Amino acid sequence: KKSEAWSALFSEPMSDLVKRYTASVFFDKRLWQADIQGSLAHAGMLAAQGIIAADDHASIQRGMAQITGEIESGGFEWKLDLEDVHLNIEARLTQLVGDAGKRLHTGRSRNDQVATDVRLWLRGEIDLIIGLLADLQRALVDIAEKNAEVILPGFTHLQVAQPVAFGHHMLAYVEMFSRDAERLVDVRRRVNRLPLGAAALAGTSYPLDREMVARSLGMVDEAGQAQVCQNSLDAVSDRDFAIEFTAAASLAMVHISRFSEELILWMSQSFGFIDIADRFCTGSSIMPQKKNPDVPELARGKTGRVVGHLMGLITLMKGQPLAYNKDNQEDKEPLFDTVDTLKDTLRIFAEMVGGITVKPEAMEKAALRGYATATDLADYLVKKGLPFRDAHETVAHAVKAAISHRVDLSELPLAVLQEFHPRIEKDVYQVLSLRGSLEARSTLGGTAPNQVRAQIARHRARLN
Ligand code: ARG
Repeated sequence: KKSEAWSALFSEPMSDLVKRYTASVFFDKRLWQADIQGSLAHAGMLAAQGIIAADDHASIQRGMAQITGEIESGGFEWKLDLEDVHLNIEARLTQLVGDAGKRLHTGRSRNDQVATDVRLWLRGEIDLIIGLLADLQRALVDIAEKNAEVILPGFTHLQVAQPVAFGHHMLAYVEMFSRDAERLVDVRRRVNRLPLGAAALAGTSYPLDREMVARSLGMVDEAGQAQVCQNSLDAVSDRDFAIEFTAAASLAMVHISRFSEELILWMSQSFGFIDIADRFCTGSSIMPQKKNPDVPELARGKTGRVVGHLMGLITLMKGQPLAYNKDNQEDKEPLFDTVDTLKDTLRIFAEMVGGITVKPEAMEKAALRGYATATDLADYLVKKGLPFRDAHETVAHAVKAAISHRVDLSELPLAVLQEFHPRIEKDVYQVLSLRGSLEARSTLGGTAPNQVRAQIARHRARLN
């Protein structure tokens, strides 16, 4: 047994503390499916190449089927003594099918095995996450469409800047999450390459058909070409694919976090722009009036956790000489937690977006309070022949006057406006309305309703 000694070379058993310190089975057992999948592909190739006999292959398949059943039913006994998921499964296989089980590891090392397992597992998770990003985008497009014409003060420096459509604001996040999905599609191409066949670090003397294994594991590119890591040292040792994934996940969480920050602000009484359905909020144990936006707050907090995992993984890699080092066993917990956190967050956000109530009056009031149409007045004067810089200065005076009268620009009488510039006429009031301002911004990607509608249609087509 491994716990007693690894081989005849060892003259004393591991201490319990060292066993616990070096074991990974209690977290890497989550790779069991990928581990069995990889082993079956390897065994199939060994048989096809005549390296193991057909009946050994059949025994391995039978044993793995039984192990699958045992793990799924919870009947499999995971042993700390057997260190990790790989040795646990292999030991059980040998218990079940004897020598055939002992032949499985021919031409293989745990080094290329674990790198393969992590890639297979991560590939599946990436596909799920891309699907969850699409769900969230759909929810955002829905709320954008429902509120396409609602006017929100757009901010720069968190100061009221210009009116924007609430739908336009939601679609900004759709753009971010669609780029996050694009990034994951790209990362997936590099995740989906086969380390098996690299063995411990140098390759192996058995006539392995690595491309066959790659194909049977679906490690192929768009053209159906088998994707095999081309250098054995690199194949077993680099975890850049996991770092890249965590970087893409961090960006997705950063987008979630920015959105969270806005939801939290908007739900605060000082803004009052939205309400979030009760089922996503909590109360206070002391203040009976409280309803707190816990979900976005936690998501903002969990963003720090995922960014931390990125730092952890990249730091894990930086000092490692070629090829495999046990340091890499530490890649799993941050990677697993990144996946879990991102998936849960995306799921809960896709649901929560449908539970947002928009309060159009509060948003419009805030836009009016902030002189959001001042740029429109300047643009109006430019159309009447003034140079933009002069128009800018003229409008500053008008805003100053409006502030001192405590009214909006649109509430200043025409005679007063004309004191600032004689070319101002009655048609200015259309320009000074929030809606007029919105409709004027019809460049591609602008906030005008026709643009917002066009973007909604484009996203709908893309997400279907
Ligand atoms: N549990 C190990 C890991 O996660 C598997 C590879 C172990 N290889 C070795 N040479 N000790 O990296």
